[in-house]
Amino acid sequence: MNCQLVTGGAGFIGSCYVLQARRRGIRVVNLDKLTYAGNLGNLASLRNDPDHVFVQGDIGNAELVRHLLDTWRPDAVVNFAAESHVDRSILDPEAFVRTNVLGTATLLRVVKDWLARLAPGQAQAFRFLHISTDEVFGALAPGDPAFTETTPYSPRSPYSASKAASDHLVRAFRETYGLPVLLTNCSNNYGPRQFPEKLIPLVILNALDRKPLPVYGQGMNVRDWLHVEDHCAAVARVLEGGRVGESYNIGGRAERANIEVVRTICALLDELVPSGQGPYADLITYVTDRPGHDFRYAMNCTKLETELGWRPRHDFASGLRDTVRWYLENRDWVENVRTGAYRQWIAVNYASRGAVCDAASDAQGGKA
Ligand code: NAD
Ligand code: DAU
Repeated sequence: MNCQLVTGGAGFIGSCYVLQARRRGIRVVNLDKLTYAGNLGNLASLRNDPDHVFVQGDIGNAELVRHLLDTWRPDAVVNFAAESHVDRSILDPEAFVRTNVLGTATLLRVVKDWLARLAPGQAQAFRFLHISTDEVFGALAPGDPAFTETTPYSPRSPYSASKAASDHLVRAFRETYGLPVLLTNCSNNYGPRQFPEKLIPLVILNALDRKPLPVYGQGMNVRDWLHVEDHCAAVARVLEGGRVGESYNIGGRAERANIEVVRTICALLDELVPSGQGPYADLITYVTDRPGHDFRYAMNCTKLETELGWRPRHDFASGLRDTVRWYLENRDWVENVRTGAYRQWIAVNYASRGAVCDAASDAQGGKA
């Protein structure tokens, strides 16, 4: 049976990948530290599955990683584990260096040493796939061409700088030690089970609670949205057919200004759960911008489409509708993640922002 060591497999994207991999009959050894973002509830359907082996631990724990490699002899390591939230990286950059840079370096070194001990035939098919982000390329202006795989790196937040560093380490292990690596750089994901510190679930859940919907700056920053299932299908495709040493951009060709996303969520909620207290959009509140807020990301995915035949299955309109429904129908999951630690984060991140913009800038933001 094919076996993969998946790191960060209890998070938003990693858990989706694990569920897909199990459906394809792949044994998964899932190494996850279970930080605030890790949630075994995401994997509840695998509770009695003997071919999903969950191990709580850190990718920076060399001894543990070595033990897992020796025990399970995986055909691939797929590295999703990371600190992933830009706003948290602004408040605590070192945590991002520890996991995203040092953790990845340790994982790479231990995998490299383990591979060197295998017989050549056994090592031939092995792959190390590193999951990265479009944010390493920096920020685009309106009308700039989308990022390609050869766009120079220009990270601008502690999060994206730490992801860029990890990407460089992955490539360095290819050049220096011949490690058979692959990289993917993906745009913003959305879908079920996303931790509600990120824009889309935060807005859905705040709206249901009749709380302010915090929009940074004027809401004109643009993100390229991709359904998490399409991201994970692309990762599987790259692992199966990607050329060793190459990176592949993944995106949704669904660029939207944040304010448009927030207004669409409000309209969906008006339709699905009318509140009787006025439109949800009345809750939109413009707040102090994210420092260094990247204006726009957009991904050119031609390489992935032409070389590997990948196409997204979800369009943004129906994918967002399904996502809103998922949060409405999974209130237990929501209550389990909104712990005291979550409430503390919301207080820390938003208390200092305040509602600085008025209705006039709402109209201005919407038109620009
Ligand atoms: P997430 O924050 O939801 O999950 C991260 C997971 O990694 C959690 O389960 C956490 O417990 C685990 N983890 C953190 N530190 C760890 C460590 N030291 N050792 C082991 N496990 C650890 O993140 P996500 O949104 O699922 O993102 C997953 C990956 O995809 C990240 O590498 C991120 O940079 C990348 N990515 C995310 C997006 C997005 O839109 N969310 C887009 C492109 C790329
Ligand atoms: O582009 C890929 C990246 O997408 C991933 O690498 C990151 O792991 C992932 O978190 C995501 O980063 P963003 O910073 O784009 O996602 P976030 O959901 O935090 O913010 C999306 C946009 O919405 C961004 O322009 C900031 C804005 N925003 C966010 C929050 C949390 C708001 O306006 N208000 C908010 O309260």
